[in-house]
Amino acid sequence: MKLTQEEQDMLEGKFGKAAKKSMEILATLGEIFDAECMIDVVGVQIAGVSYANLGEAGLEFLSEMAEDGKVRVLTTLNPAGMDRENWQALGIDKEFAKNQNRAIDAFAKMAIITTCSCTPYLIGNTPHFGQHLAWAESSAVCYANSVIGARTNREGGPSALASAIIGKTPKYGYHLDKNRHGEVLFEVNAPVKGTDEFGVLGKIIGDKLVELEKKIPYITGISRATVEELKSFCASVATYGGTALFHMEGITPEYNRYPKPSDIIVDINQETLKKTRDELIDDDIEIDFVSIGCPHASIHEIAKIANLLNGKKVKKEFWITTARPTKRIADEAGYSKIIEDAGAKFAADTCCVVAPIKGRFKGIMVDSAKACYYGRAKNKFKVKIGSIEECIEEATG
Ligand code: F3S
Repeated sequence: MKLTQEEQDMLEGKFGKAAKKSMEILATLGEIFDAECMIDVVGVQIAGVSYANLGEAGLEFLSEMAEDGKVRVLTTLNPAGMDRENWQALGIDKEFAKNQNRAIDAFAKMAIITTCSCTPYLIGNTPHFGQHLAWAESSAVCYANSVIGARTNREGGPSALASAIIGKTPKYGYHLDKNRHGEVLFEVNAPVKGTDEFGVLGKIIGDKLVELEKKIPYITGISRATVEELKSFCASVATYGGTALFHMEGITPEYNRYPKPSDIIVDINQETLKKTRDELIDDDIEIDFVSIGCPHASIHEIAKIANLLNGKKVKKEFWITTARPTKRIADEAGYSKIIEDAGAKFAADTCCVVAPIKGRFKGIMVDSAKACYYGRAKNKFKVKIGSIEECIEEATG
């Protein structure tokens, strides 16, 4: 890989220890993936923020980088293991909170914006079509590439941090036109509506891509989709299929930029949707936890929840997980008061997957296919998917 003089100087340590370590990470990645050179990025999203994922080894790496490292581009964080203001009410223990704050402090020292959300595109880390990024967080990567038409690979925590410090990433993978073509045509021949159904669709497509050993779906038959439906779809297809990019005819900005695939065609109908939905509902589930906001709830979703909860009381633990800036808008709009008066809790900065809640609940109801996957795999909960309306009925019924 060709390096500029400045990049070479960074590699030799002339810009300090953190820049040297960062260039080593990026240059190694560039060599592995045969990148020609580095390109500038306009934003970075860092994952692996929860202390539950970082542990002491991760924290040590961060502390070393923070000794002399400062980010060069707009950089935000994925959800942490706790609500940074309201952690006690959510049952997080003191020791965990102390360690989580040590990690956040190290990020802050590097001039990273400590918003802790998996929807950076809803809170100001919002790229434009064609811009290059270095984002970790699979759902946000899929959203940036597909819905916005920006360009990013699926970064890991260390490579995203390295890109933030250098302001660049190696030019390979989804940064290049030649790697952005759809590979499998999925024809959706049934109506799909709501975050839960778009999540189910993401699971169908993701599972099929794994079976076919393909990555980029081209989807037809969807006539409309909201931001919330697309964020749910992105989270699901990225979880089940490892997908970082899809094209949706008439919806996403690059759908007609590349040829429509014609070799492999998969039909999705009402029956397929029903069968897959049933796979996301465990037998004999006893629901004691309801959570909405995977990926983090938008202000539209919070308004809808407030409207549905108005004047009611929840009878089960009920979390709304969202970004702190979105929560602040909800406070100002009066939605938070309605929601909290009903007994539901905001869990800003975190979510039902990254918070250390394994074993605390038996069964979780969510509107997210991604949360079903991790609810089972990570937290060992039984799971049930439903619409936002159904989740609220379950919590209040
Ligand atoms: Fe976000 Fe947590 Fe879901 S990080 S995408 S709310 S699993």
